[in-house]
Parts: sequence; structure tokens; C-alpha cells
Amino acid sequence: MRTRAPAVEVSADAGALAHAAAERFVVEAEAAVRARGRFTVALAGGTTPNAMYRLLASRYRDAVPWDAIDFFWGDERHVPPTHRDSNVRAAYDAMLGSVPTPPARVHRIRGELPDASDAATDYEQTLRREFASPPGKVPTFDLVLLGMGSDGHTASLFPGSEALLERERLVLAPWVDHLRSHRITLTLAVLNHATLVVFLVSGRAKADSLRDVVEGPDRPGQLPAQLVRPINGRSLWLVDREAATQLTRSRDH
Ligand code: 6PG
Repeated sequence: MRTRAPAVEVSADAGALAHAAAERFVVEAEAAVRARGRFTVALAGGTTPNAMYRLLASRYRDAVPWDAIDFFWGDERHVPPTHRDSNVRAAYDAMLGSVPTPPARVHRIRGELPDASDAATDYEQTLRREFASPPGKVPTFDLVLLGMGSDGHTASLFPGSEALLERERLVLAPWVDHLRSHRITLTLAVLNHATLVVFLVSGRAKADSLRDVVEGPDRPGQLPAQLVRPINGRSLWLVDREAATQLTRSRDH
């Protein structure tokens, strides 16, 4: 059962949402680097976060401790990093290609591998190495950025997917039937070990699913985003007014 409604902050529009998300990123990065000398973040794919990424590389550039951040991804398409659908390519185009991030601190999913399950295994090894997580121990990200589809999916965890049941593996490569392709995705085991999960949701097309996910009854099989509930961390929904039109409880940012 849902313990309590997740925190929702509403920004006036998509531009204000991008600023709110970038400001939150800076606050979390500064705190983590001050406390532990390092900030680990899993970037979201899709289009919503790109405006935030562009702001981090420009307006907030000087506030970001680029040389102490380890960048990861929450999921990736089964394509090479040069492909137009690649989440890695999107992040480089919007941010990583123009900031002083040490290449050794960018840990992408190798979507170019012919067998998607090899890419998942490879990324699981990357996570275990970079977080010094032996088998049985789940890495803890300081921040996981997630988007949400209008069907309630998040990362590449789609409604009805067997990947929703995985509690041991860190990374899976589910076949996504309606996309006719594999995806490579962090599992809920990792997402729910994060210190902070920030969802970024924008636009009227997401309004019904946002209401269903954050205020509706538990339907985790149909609404995978409902399954993201950090065990020892917290989640925060940063949304714009268009996406929030169907919500009854939220806080203006
Ligand atoms: C992806 C993301 C996916 C995305 C949602 C929302 O690889 O596409 O992991 O979960 O966040 O589909 O996408 P938009 O931001 O483009 O609406």
C-alpha cells in the first residue's frame, strides 16, 4: 500500500521546470561532493530532461562540480551511441559534449553490442566496479533522474514487463513488444536504492497518467512508475502546470 503521497512540485511551464530540475541537480551535487568527494547520477533518457541538461551546461555551468561527478544512465535504447535515438547521444548533444567532465567518469550503456543482454551484463559489471558493489549488494546512486511515459512507464520498465519483478539483477535487457526492440534498463532494485529519485514530467499528455501514478490506487503492473519508492531515500516529482492539471494535491515551486 502507498505509505504517503510523493512530493510534487509544480513549475509554471517547461522552461521553469528545467530550471527547477537544474537547481535541484546543483544542490544535490554540491552536497554529495562536499560530504563524500563524489556525486553519482543516473541520467534520464527521452526528451523532457534535455532542456535541463542544456541549462546545466550553460546557465549553471560554473556551479556544477564537473570533475567529481560520475555520470550513468537509467536506460538506453539498443542502438549505437551515434544513433539519433541514443540517450547517450542526447546527453552529449545537450550537455556532456560541452562541459569539462573527465571522459573516465562517463559510464554509458553499450547499446551497440549486438546482443542486448550482453549490454545489460556489461553495464551491471560497470556498476559493480564503479560502486565497489559485490554480488548481493546494490549500488546507491546519489541521484536518479527519471522521466515517465503517458502509459506510466519509467526508465525502460514498461507495463506488464517481467522486468518489474526483478529484485536481484541490477540491469536487464527486456524485449519491448510495442517498440519491436530491446531496451537496456536499470531495475527497480537499483532505482529503489537511490538516495534521491527525481521524476521530470512535462505536458498535458502526461496529466492523466501523472494523476493515476501519484494520486490513484496502486496499479503497479500497469503503472510501473508507482513501483519507484526508494527504500532509504526519497522521490520528488518535478512537473509543469500542464502535466499537473489533473492533480488535487501538489505544491507550487
Ligand atoms: C527513454 C526514457 C523513458 C522516458 C519517457 C518519457 O529512454 O525514453 O527512459 O522512460 O523518460 O518515455 O519520455 P519523454 O521525456 O520524451 O516524454
